[in-house]
Order: sequence, then C-alpha cells, then structure tokens
Amino acid sequence: MRVFVSRRIPEPALERIRAAAEINLWESDDPPPYAELSERVRGVDGLFCTLNDRIDALLMDAAGKQIKVISIMAVGYDNIDVRAAAERGIAVGNTPGILTETTADLAFTLLLAAARRIPESMAYIREQRWTTWKPMDLLGRDLSGAVLGIVGFGRIGQAVARRAQAFGMRILAHSRSLTDEQAAAHGAERADLHDLLTRADFVSIHTPLNDSTRRLINAETLRLMKRDAILINTSRGGVVDQRALYEALRDGVIGGAALDVTDPEPIPLDDPILTLPNALIVPHIGSATLQTRTKMALMAADNLIAGIRGEPLPNRVQPR
Ligand code: DGY
Repeated sequence: MRVFVSRRIPEPALERIRAAAEINLWESDDPPPYAELSERVRGVDGLFCTLNDRIDALLMDAAGKQIKVISIMAVGYDNIDVRAAAERGIAVGNTPGILTETTADLAFTLLLAAARRIPESMAYIREQRWTTWKPMDLLGRDLSGAVLGIVGFGRIGQAVARRAQAFGMRILAHSRSLTDEQAAAHGAERADLHDLLTRADFVSIHTPLNDSTRRLINAETLRLMKRDAILINTSRGGVVDQRALYEALRDGVIGGAALDVTDPEPIPLDDPILTLPNALIVPHIGSATLQTRTKMALMAADNLIAGIRGEPLPNRVQPR
C-alpha cells in the first residue's frame, strides 16, 4: 500500500503509518503546490492532507481509481469536495473531538486579550507611552455580567460556554437545530442570529464553513452588533467578510475583533486590517499544542490506515 503525506507531522503518527504502508512524505512545513500535489498522489491508496490542500474532483482523478481514502488532520474539511469523493467511493476522515478544549482555550484567550486590549498595551510600552499610571488609559471591558453570543453551538461552542460561565458571563447560543432545552443544558439561552448579534457584547464564531455560513458575518450583520461589541473567530476565515469587518472596525461600527482565521490564509501583509489597533490576529493556532496536534495526527493516521485496508474509518465525514 502507498500513501502520500502532504506535510511534516508528529513522528508518532508517521511511525504508525510507516508500519502499515509505504510513505511518500512532503517534508516541509509548507503545503505542496497544487500541481505538485496532483503529481504526488498519482497511484496512491491513501492521502493524508491538511486544511491548506485543495482536494477537488480533479485531484481525486489525478490520484486514480485505486485511491480509497482521504484523511485530513483537522476537524474542518471545507477544502475537500466531500461529494466528489463520495461519488468516487473514496472515504473521507477527519479529527473531531480531540481539539475541542484546546481550540476553546484559544477562543477564550482571544476574547480576554481583546477585552483587556493586551496587544495595544504591549505596543503602548514599546511606543514609550507608559509615563505614569493613568486612570483613563487603555480601558477595557469586564467579562462578568457581559453577554457572550456563540454562533455555532457544537462541541467547541459548548466548551467556550463552559469557560464563559466560570467568568460570570451570560450566554446566548445560536445553531441551526438547537432547541431551548439543549441550550439551557449548557447554561445558555437559545437565540436567533439577529437577536444574538444585537444583544451580545462579545460574539464568538464556531460554525463550519459551508454554503450557508459563508460570509455570515458581513456588512449587514455587523451593523446589527453593538458599537463596542467584540467579534472572535476561531472557525474559518470565510465565515466573515473580511473587507466588511475591516471597514466596520475602522469606522467604529463594532469595537474590536480577534481572529485566529483569515480569508485568505495566510493573510497578505498589505491587508489593511493589520493596521488597525482594534484587530488582534493570530495565525490559525487554535489547535496548536503539542499534545493536541499529536492526537490529531494519530487520529488522522488511524483514519488513513483503516481506509487503505478497506475498513470503516474511526471518524468518517458524511457527505451533506
Ligand atoms: C481544524 O481542525 O479544523 C482547525 O482549524 C485546525 O486545527
């Protein structure tokens, strides 16, 4: 059996794959260009990929009819044409569950850092503006008693809710099929998107990216938010219209934003949003701890190995 692994990944996962198949490894921290990827997948039984690899029908056809599995080392799989894979009988696996707490930690880190203006405070020192203790400088926002709106109330959204409860926040939750009872079981109040955006002091996004969530946060929905509201996004950059967000931050339509994900990724260095003091942006590090990335790689390895053996995947993505 032959597999292609499209990135340098934690060694324990490579060892596990090596015991089951012959590996062709892209030994880099950067993704292979699409043309290179198309070449490398030719004739493989399985593909281990990451969220930066575009896995479309053409690439699957380039791989050939023998490919049985595409295993992504991520929970999000919007870069894979899952329907095209299903049509070709290729199983797709992902890594749900294990990165929940780590990603929720980062979402909450961003929330706190934006609320208390941590990046601005560091810049304040570097710019030699810390001349004395000033009663009216760098005033942030209290979490206690504030309303957090969680858009997308799956595992990660619920894990963020647990953290918010400990900080005394009130929680509004929005998900397509969420009931009042399900929201209440997590200490939250169910809200429709309009209601959530108008009432929340902080809005944290946890939806997958798909046709119904693409640019869900746009000029119109941003205008519903409070003028001092803070938007946090740790899901996918495409859920937010980034140009509209830039304008909203620049013009004071909302108070601030903290993003782990951008559109595109990496964010171009001339993107004007990078010039704004009220935008905090980190490079898609939601799941970036050694423990979690190792668990993700191992889970993706298990999906890959099961797939090339023609066995059921431990975590299989179902086409929608
Ligand atoms: C995912 O798994 O989808 C994250 O975005 C990366 O950990």
